[in-house]
Amino acid sequence: MRSLRHVTSINDLTNPEVEHVFALASQYLKRLGDKDIPYRIAKSTKAGQGRLLATLFYEPSTRTRLSFESAMLRLGGKTISSADPNASSAAKGESLADSVRMLSNYADAIVVRHKRDGAARLAAEYAHVPIINGGDGAHEHPTQTLGDLFTLRRENATLKNLNVAVAGDLKHGRTIHSLVYALARFGSRIVLMPAPGMGLPEHVRWRLRHEFPGTVVSEADQDKPIDVLYVTRFQAERAANEVSTYPRIDLKFLDDKKFSRARVMHPLPRVNELHIDVDRDARATYFQQAAYAVPVRMALLSTVLGLSEKKFAHYAGGFRKVKEELVEPPAGHGIACANPNCIVHDEIDGKYSANKFYALPSEPPRLRCFYCETDIADVRGAARTRGAAS
Ligand code: NCD
Repeated sequence: MRSLRHVTSINDLTNPEVEHVFALASQYLKRLGDKDIPYRIAKSTKAGQGRLLATLFYEPSTRTRLSFESAMLRLGGKTISSADPNASSAAKGESLADSVRMLSNYADAIVVRHKRDGAARLAAEYAHVPIINGGDGAHEHPTQTLGDLFTLRRENATLKNLNVAVAGDLKHGRTIHSLVYALARFGSRIVLMPAPGMGLPEHVRWRLRHEFPGTVVSEADQDKPIDVLYVTRFQAERAANEVSTYPRIDLKFLDDKKFSRARVMHPLPRVNELHIDVDRDARATYFQQAAYAVPVRMALLSTVLGLSEKKFAHYAGGFRKVKEELVEPPAGHGIACANPNCIVHDEIDGKYSANKFYALPSEPPRLRCFYCETDIADVRGAARTRGAAS
C-alpha cells in the first residue's frame, strides 16, 4: 500500500514542510499573482491537469471550501463537491467512513469538514487518497493556520518573538487550537484574551506546556505591545450555553496604546465581535488573510498530490508526533474518550471507530484519544469511577 500524506492536524506537518508550503505559495503569488493586488492569485497553471479534488463538507463553509476549489482550479485541476449533508447520502444515515472509501475512487484528494472532533482522523483511516482536514468540530483547522501563519510572516517578515493575542472563544475555536500549536512551534508568544469561561481547553494548555517547551503563554492584562490581535467568533453551534459577555473589537478598543501597531486578524466569518469600522483602519488584515488562503492551499494541494518539483520530504511522522504505543481498551470494559463530541461517540461513525488512546509518559498517567486528541488527565480516577459505576 502506498503511504499517504494526510493533514488532519497542524502537527502532521514538520516545520520544514510548513516552510516548503510557504515557499511554494510565495512562488505562486509571484508567478500567478495580480499585478495590482499583492495577495491575489489571478492566473492559472497546468500543473494539476487531470487531477481531481473532492470537497466533502458536513458543516457550512464559504472560505474554506471555495478557496480550496479555487486553488485546485488555479492549479489546472478539477473539483467535485458535496456541500450539503441534507442533499447527500448522509441524510440517509451513511457514515463518513463509507463516504470517504467511495470518494477515494472518485478523486485524488479529499477535503473533509465535519461537526465531530476527530472526524478527519477517522476519514484518514478509511480513505486511500490524502485527507485534508477542513475543520473537525472543535479539534483543529490546520489549513486555516497555514494561511494565518503565511499572513503573519508576510505582514511581519518573521514568525519569531511576535506577541500574538488570541481573543474570543478559545475553548471551541478549532482555528485557535491549530494556531496556538503553530505559534509555539515557530517561536511566537501567545497572549490569551478569552471571553469569560471560554479559555483554552486543559489538554491544549497541557500540550503547550509539556510538548512545546519554551512556549510563552501569558494573560492579556499586561501592557506589552501586541503585534497581532487574532479575533474569533463565539462558536454558538458548539457551545452548550450562550455567553453574556463577549469581546467586541472596535476602533475605540484598538485605541489602547498596546494595540497601536497590532494587525487585526480574524478567520471569518465575523458576527458582532469585530466592528465593520475596523475595515477602514490600516491595521485590518483579515481580507488579505482570507485571500492568502488560495496560494497557500494551492501549495498544500500541489505538495500532497506530488505536483510540485520538490515533493514532501520523506514522511517523518510529523512534528513530535507522540511515539507512545496505541492502547485499545477491550470493548465493553474500556475507558471511553472524555470528549462527548468525539467521533467515537457518533451514533453512526462510532461503529467504525474504536476507543483508542496514546498512553502519555506522565504522572499521573494520561491517555490521549487517537481521534480528537482530548486527554483523560486522570486515568486512575476514570478507572475508579468506572469501577464504582458498574
Ligand atoms: C472558521 C471555521 O470554520 O472554523 N471559518 C473558516 O474556516 N475560516 C472560523 C469560524 O467558523 O468561526
